[in-house]
Amino acid sequence: MKNGVVIIGAGHAGVQAAASLRDEGYDGPVRLIGDEAELPYHKPPLSKTFIKDVDARPQILRADSFYSGAGVDLLLGERAIRLDPAAGRLELASGASLAYDKAILATGARPRVLAIEGGLLAGVLSLRSIADARAIRVLAATVEDVVILGGGFIGLEIAATLVASRRRVTVVEAQDRLLARVVAPAISAHVAGRLAASGVRVMTRTTVSRIEGDDGHVSAVITSAGERIAARMLIVGIGVVPNVELAADAGLAIANGIRVDGQLRSSAPNIFAIGDIASYRHWLTGGDVRLESVQNATDHAKLAARAIVGHGDSYAAVPWFWSDIGDMKLQMVGLTGGSDRQIVSGEPTDNRFSVFHYKGGRLIGVESVNRPADHMLGRRMLAAGFSPSPEVVAAGDGSLKAALAAWQAAQPHPDSGRDG
Ligand code: APR
Repeated sequence: MKNGVVIIGAGHAGVQAAASLRDEGYDGPVRLIGDEAELPYHKPPLSKTFIKDVDARPQILRADSFYSGAGVDLLLGERAIRLDPAAGRLELASGASLAYDKAILATGARPRVLAIEGGLLAGVLSLRSIADARAIRVLAATVEDVVILGGGFIGLEIAATLVASRRRVTVVEAQDRLLARVVAPAISAHVAGRLAASGVRVMTRTTVSRIEGDDGHVSAVITSAGERIAARMLIVGIGVVPNVELAADAGLAIANGIRVDGQLRSSAPNIFAIGDIASYRHWLTGGDVRLESVQNATDHAKLAARAIVGHGDSYAAVPWFWSDIGDMKLQMVGLTGGSDRQIVSGEPTDNRFSVFHYKGGRLIGVESVNRPADHMLGRRMLAAGFSPSPEVVAAGDGSLKAALAAWQAAQPHPDSGRDG
């Protein structure tokens, strides 16, 4: 183990992997490579606080001193261009060639591009990096009319932020409801209603077919319904594509993302893939997933580090996610695809309620609006494998807490039943 570990990608996953390797006692060389020039930073605030405040600074993931203190060689502004799994070598755009014993790919995802007429005009922006967020915040300070394409988390977080800064905001969403990929219809309807009440114009079953420009800058969009909407800024938030090119060129198995096993190992045994780019069979549902969340990045990183130092445990973290859309804190836990029964607890009119998802009679996830206690209980229940009856859920979080405690007390101790 003299060449050490090379981590490609310095986002949430990559930085956590470096830290976790040291936490796990790994004492070989650790190199962390990122193609952005600045210290790795938190991404969630970019679409919330960062774009509305011209003085907001990036929230860095770890202080500069962490990297030197932990003996992590941080190579910023460096792009990995070729991976040779057989030789255990990584080439960088700067010409350097690094030998490694193990590599961790944490290259993340990039915004899907809108390939339509006018898509390259100035003022057509997307949000992923801090550079993107700076561009949005500079332009947002001077424009009145903003169109946001895509009613997913990114689009709606930005819509809520900009309408609060008194911009005229229109959200254009292709599906028949907002957040269709990720939450229950009851939550979509609630979010749409509240955004509309705050002044956002929400259009569903609609897309943008053409973008008009004026002097090279976007001036209006033409919707699929033929409507012309004035816009000096068009933010495109129509999902992301995983950055798998390095891995694909190296011959690693790809299936939506880089295919990995229960220990996040790719088809090349010395190469791990973690975070947004990893596609894997999920322990909770048995289905194949590629999850885009800070939780997924962080817990993957911790497990890959454990695998590298020789632990044999498999990935078993409960998936969760959050989003702040204006005065709605959305928190999601579990994987709710295939949900066949939904129980609502609390009152949407109070802007505080949760949707409990069941599949085949078992709890598979909880989505909450301003009900953090339900979210935390959901995390504990799914981690414990406890599925409360719909009646207990309907009775509120006090009953739920009691039912979980009673269930846990009745479980055999993990060591009991063993002889000696
Ligand atoms: N026109 C209009 N809407 C579209 C189009 C289109 N051509 N194509 C896709 N959409 C809609 C989808 O129906 C979906 O509602 O855009 C939305 C994209 O939502 P997400 O897939 O959730 O992606 P996005 O909001 O871009 O967020 C990307 O960033 O917030 C993080 O990790 C989070 O996974 C998320 C990622």
